[in-house]
Order: sequence, then C-alpha cells, then structure tokens
Amino acid sequence: MPAIESVLHERRVFPPSAAASANAAIFGMDAYRALVAEAERDYEGFWARLARETLEWRKPFSSVLDASDAPFYKWFADGELNVSYNCLDRQVQNGNAEKTAIIFEADDGAVTTVTYRELLQRVCEFANALRSRGVKKGERIVIYMPMSIEGIVAMQACARIGATHSVVFGGFSAKSLNERIADASAVAVITADEQMRGGRAIPLKNIADEALAMGGCDTVKDVIVYRRSGGKVAWNEARDLWWHELTENQPGTCEPEWVGAEHPLYILYTSGSTGKPKGVQHSSGGYLLWAALTMKWVFDLKPKDVFWCTADIGWVTGHTYIAYGPTAVGATQIMFEGTPTYPHAGRFWEMIGRHGVTVFYTAPTAIRSLIKLSAAEPRVQPKRFDLSSLRIIGTVGEPINPEAWIWYYENVGGGRCPVVDTWWQTETGGQMISPLPGATPLVPGSCTLPLPGIMATVVDDAGAEVPPGEGGMLVVKKPWPAMLRTIWGDPERFKRTYFPAELGGQVYLAGDGAVRDKDTGYFTIVGRIDDVLNVSGHRLGTMEIESALVANPDVAEAAAVGRPDETTGEAVVAFVVLKRKRPEGDEATQIADELRAWVAKEIGPFAKPKEIRFGENLPKTRSGKIMRRLLRSLAKGEAITQDVSTLENAAILDQLGESR
Ligand code: WT7
Repeated sequence: MPAIESVLHERRVFPPSAAASANAAIFGMDAYRALVAEAERDYEGFWARLARETLEWRKPFSSVLDASDAPFYKWFADGELNVSYNCLDRQVQNGNAEKTAIIFEADDGAVTTVTYRELLQRVCEFANALRSRGVKKGERIVIYMPMSIEGIVAMQACARIGATHSVVFGGFSAKSLNERIADASAVAVITADEQMRGGRAIPLKNIADEALAMGGCDTVKDVIVYRRSGGKVAWNEARDLWWHELTENQPGTCEPEWVGAEHPLYILYTSGSTGKPKGVQHSSGGYLLWAALTMKWVFDLKPKDVFWCTADIGWVTGHTYIAYGPTAVGATQIMFEGTPTYPHAGRFWEMIGRHGVTVFYTAPTAIRSLIKLSAAEPRVQPKRFDLSSLRIIGTVGEPINPEAWIWYYENVGGGRCPVVDTWWQTETGGQMISPLPGATPLVPGSCTLPLPGIMATVVDDAGAEVPPGEGGMLVVKKPWPAMLRTIWGDPERFKRTYFPAELGGQVYLAGDGAVRDKDTGYFTIVGRIDDVLNVSGHRLGTMEIESALVANPDVAEAAAVGRPDETTGEAVVAFVVLKRKRPEGDEATQIADELRAWVAKEIGPFAKPKEIRFGENLPKTRSGKIMRRLLRSLAKGEAITQDVSTLENAAILDQLGESR
C-alpha cells in the first residue's frame, strides 16, 4: 500500500444549490439515506424493484441475485429483454419519437441531428444488414469507429441482434486492434475510412487492414466501412463492404433478439497489471439497469435536458453515458467528433452555448489543460461564452485536484452547478461513488459517498475494514447488477484479479487506494495500488508499455513508472537499457524519440512515454526484481531514501536520475 501522497487542502463544503435540488430525482440527504437503508434492509428486493421499474422485460425475472457460482454472479438471470428495444423502441412508443436523440457536431463544426424514430430506423437497417451477413447471436463484432452517429448505430445494432460488440478506441494502433480482434475471435470489423480530429484525418480503414494482415484474425469474414471523409482506402473485394451499400435496401424495422439478462452485451478491453489487456465482459440486464438509473440519479436527467458527455465511445464512459445511458432514459445528447482545442481551446464552452447544454460531463485532464490554455489566451476563457444553460457539471476518469475543481465550479458552473465527481471503472459498468446533485454537500477533491446499493468500503491488506481517516484499498462488499461478469476467455484471471483470496475471495477489489473522511465518511481516491497508470484519463499498464519497449530490437530491458503531472494527472517515465552502449546527448534524444514513436506504433499515440531515460542497467533487488519504488522516486526527482545497499552498480542511479 503506497503512502497517500495527495492531501486535500481545500476544506470548504458546497451545499447543493436550490436550483440544482428543485425536483431532483433524489432530493436531499434524507432521500439518499432512505434508499441506502432500503438496500441494506433487503438487498435483492431493492434491486428487483429498480429493475422492474426501470426496464421493460420481455420475460419477467424471478431470480434476482444468483450467487451459486460466486464470484461469477448472475443478476435477473431468468429474465429476458433486449437492450436496443429498451433504449429505442420504448422512446418511440412513449411519445419521444420526434424528440432529438443525438445532436452530432463534427470536427469542422457541421451539425447533424437524429430523432429517436430515425435512430431506431437506422439501427434496424444496420441490424438487418448484419443479419443478412449471417451474424448470429453471441458472435463478437469489433467496432473501430470515430465518434459518429454511426458508431452508436453499430453498437445498438449489435445489441439488437444479440451480437456482442467490442469497441476499440480509434487511437489504438494496428497491433492493439489486432490483439483485440484475435482475443475476441470477432466475425466482423466495423470501421470508417477516416477519423477526423483537430483538422487531421486518421486512416482507420488502413489501420484496420494492417491489423487484419497481422494474423490471428481468420474468424473475420466482413469489414464494414462507414464513409466518413471520402478519403482514399485500399479495398479487398472479398471482404470489404460499404456501410451505405449494405444498408441501402434493408427494412427499417427489425425484430429484436430477446436475450437472457446475463447475455454478454459487450466486451471492452482495459489495461491491467500484466502486459495483456483484459476483455471486461458486461451483461445486458444488470448493466442497462445501472446505465439508466445513474443517468437519473447522478445527472438527474429530465426530459428537457441537453446532455453532453465528452468521452469517446471507445472507452467505457462512452458506452454507458453515450451509447446506452442517455438513450435508455430518452435524453437529447450532444456527440462531438473533435478535440477540445480545435479550432480553439474554447470549443467546449462555445458548444455548450450553441446547443444549450444543461448537463456536462468531462475529464479532469481536459479541465486542467483548458485552465492552462485559457490563462494564456483570454479569448478562450469560459466567461467569454454563454454557459447559462448549464445546471450540473461532472467529472470522471481520474482524481480531480481541488484547484481544478474550484476553477470548474466557478468558471464553468458559474458557482451554481454542482460538480459530480464520479468514481467508477470499466469493470463497474457505471458510476459507483458520486455526489447526488440535489442532495450531497460537495467537498472539492472527494467523490463523496457510494450510490445507494453500492457497498463500497476501505480495507487493509488482510481485508479488514479500516477506520475513517486511514488509507487502504477500495473494495465493494456485495455484487451489484452492473459489475463485470468475467474476463473474456480468462475466468481464472477474473477471480484472481477482482476477488483475491488474500482478501477472502468475497469482496470486489477495485485496484484503487482510498481514504474516508473521519467526520463525513466521504471517500477520496488516492490512485491505483497496482501497476496501472492513469495518463489523461487513459488507463495504461506499466507492463504493457514495458512489453512494447522490449519488443524493439535495440532494447534489452525496460521499466515504466508513473510520475505526477500537472496536466495529464500522471505521465509515463520509461527507463531503458539498450543492447548497445548507453547513448548520451543528442544520440540519446534521438533514440528516445524513436522509442516513443515505437510505443505509439505498438499501443497507440496516447501511450507514448513522456520521458525516456537510459541506463547501463536497472536497479534490482538481490532476487532480480526491478526496484520500482526507487524508479518512481528517480522519475519524480526525489531524494533516494530507500535502502540501495543491494545495488551492484550504484552509479546507475546517477545515470537514471538525470532528467533530459
Ligand atoms: C480508474 C478506472 C470510469 C470511466 C473512465 C475510466 C480512476 C475514475 C475517478 C474519480 C479518482 C478515478 C480510478 C479507476 N478513476 N474515476 N472520479 N476519481 N479516480 O475508467 O479506464 O476503467 O479507469 O480510473 O483509478 O480505477 P477506467
């Protein structure tokens, strides 16, 4: 357990504003406590009630929680439903047919909108197209798409026919895409000719071609290509199909595939503490229940709201709070193709004004970089834009430092919008610890309290709960409906990683360190306790980066560690031993650049180490383990306080301590 490095300096408490609490779904702390008490009194009854009220079941469930094969828990297992039906058909039937579902703003500012009726029709056409290609229930489809209405259509269409999708973020390299296609044994890949971001085109189809040519992808029969830009693509007649041609004559209705609640809606790969990413598998019923409920509880979503989650559909935030949650509650949402700094760093604020966004959800990294940029350029300061429509603002993905919180609260929220700092993970399916905008007094830098039904706490290394005020490991004591079901193809790893025997095998281990406040019980997340880094809200395994580096023919050994970074939260510092002489000066700079480009090729540009340092060796213990704690100190430029008496070559500390 690492020492808690960040301590809160901001002690102000911000009560929920009158405007935010008026008509809130959960109004006041008493209402919150009543729900918490209901869950404590009758855990299964609580979830059963919510599942009946929130979703439409084709076949009602009689079993609520099935723990007979724990930790492979099942929820609502004998119930049947269809996720796409719950998201779309229900809206059309319930008077939302002509309501705008998605306002899509392209990188260049062009705006396209679809109503729920149109969205349903397009999902049906595409679902029929997939069926016409022979895609069956339970088969996997990899989606490697830009932010686009078509991206949501592809996901929802898979859900409609019971195919399990696996979305791969468009920033991943051909190699990463290849590994994910192979691991999932996908039968089809859906991609686009190009992705437009910040005025640049990224050739997704070419990258997909490269990925498929790397081998291990023989299961893939079709590559379906959405024409986004008209950019030039290579074409394989035997395999490639244009989206628009494939859907041209498809009927606009499509009978959903009714699936069991446990049917895998999707797999989403995320980084863990080994080099191999984990295919986190989510269910249909429990997952959708939580996506819809948290939209109501945490975002207090109302019919007139205009919701905007700035995440990419390639990450879990984009699954739960773009593709599924907003549609499940019939929201109007903004979907943005581009980047927050193009054509200027006021783009977010300008868009909030243009579209009248009321609920806004983004990452601390984005906030911190926009703070910096707006300090340098007054033109892009939030106050230059009309942000008066906002009523709730949220963050996700990494701890938000109190300074950034206050800036966000004052400059973006105008001092009137609650900031919901939501803690959750790819594995949890939806938000877990978060303020409720109409109830929870806010403390900057704290994600406050677990949502009703979420039994989160903090334990020590032996699994015993620690008293408030003491740091420990964040765990969830009871299974919840939206939790991951397994790791695709690796149930043992699922058990070992999330329900470790050291903690008794009963509690879900989140992998984060946390501390609860002595007076309020509020949670503060202090960062990962495993070898996972969080760079700009992107989760990266140090082992992944190391494997990428040692795959380079010049590299003998590599170790990657995180270092706190003002903007990106954490930054990667890699320590590298080359097979040849340790480079110095310009040569070192040049090789470091080459290795950074190498990592971009191996994993994706977002994984590039910020700094690479070369040594003749790495510091190791007598048993040959790399002394990571020492490397972390070196990366931070701290004085070395660890015992280094076992080091054979103490001179390497000077080499590795040199920042370039
Ligand atoms: C890890 C999960 C949740 C969707 C996006 C990231 C960190 C997430 C917070 C928060 C402090 C946070 C944790 C967590 N994290 N939200 N509000 N405060 N840390 O999902 O890629 O699965 O990453 O992100 O370390 O374990 P992910």
